[in-house]
Amino acid sequence: MLEVLQIPAGPMDNFAYLVFCPQTRRAVVVDPSFAPQVVLAAAYERQLQIVGLLNTHGHHDHIAGNDEILAAVMVPHWGHPFDLPAAKEALLEGTIVPVGEGGIRVMHTPGHTPGSVVLHTGEGLITGDTLFVGRCGRADLPGSDVNKLYDSLQRIKLLDGALKVYPGHNYGARPISTIADERRENNFLSAPDREAFIHLRMG
Ligand SMILES: [Fe+2]
Repeated sequence: MLEVLQIPAGPMDNFAYLVFCPQTRRAVVVDPSFAPQVVLAAAYERQLQIVGLLNTHGHHDHIAGNDEILAAVMVPHWGHPFDLPAAKEALLEGTIVPVGEGGIRVMHTPGHTPGSVVLHTGEGLITGDTLFVGRCGRADLPGSDVNKLYDSLQRIKLLDGALKVYPGHNYGARPISTIADERRENNFLSAPDREAFIHLRMG
């Protein structure tokens, strides 16, 4: 089973992640944000070999550290082509990104941006700016679509309640949650219908 290491990253309360296979010590970096050197040091300390760089979406605060990671380790860059057309490898719905003996499965979850993805690591979901602990991503930015965000969150809500939620920012009461907790506590997931959600998100 892949393991997830959450790394606080900079002034906007971002989280960067290392997702790694404990058997082979292979790892991928997700959203290095403003802390690429911290991410590299964390990988080095744990004797992890970085084999890829993934982004949950194309916003600057998530991709800011990409160049430093790619300068340090020559690995493929993965992103959804709607947000990251220059990424060499495409993160599309159903794509599996191999990490040692495991793999990360991609869900395309547009709404916050057209190319937002959620990364399913097996025990958890790296949710980028689509779902936070107790909140969800903004839908009033260029490229946002509140209807699509509603659809994406409805999909996520139906997943296994035991799955952990690893958000893209530390905006909640705790840094990590679960789908079951979010179903219970997150007003954006419990909005009774699409209209109520749109009112809550855009109002
Ligand atoms: Fe964002």
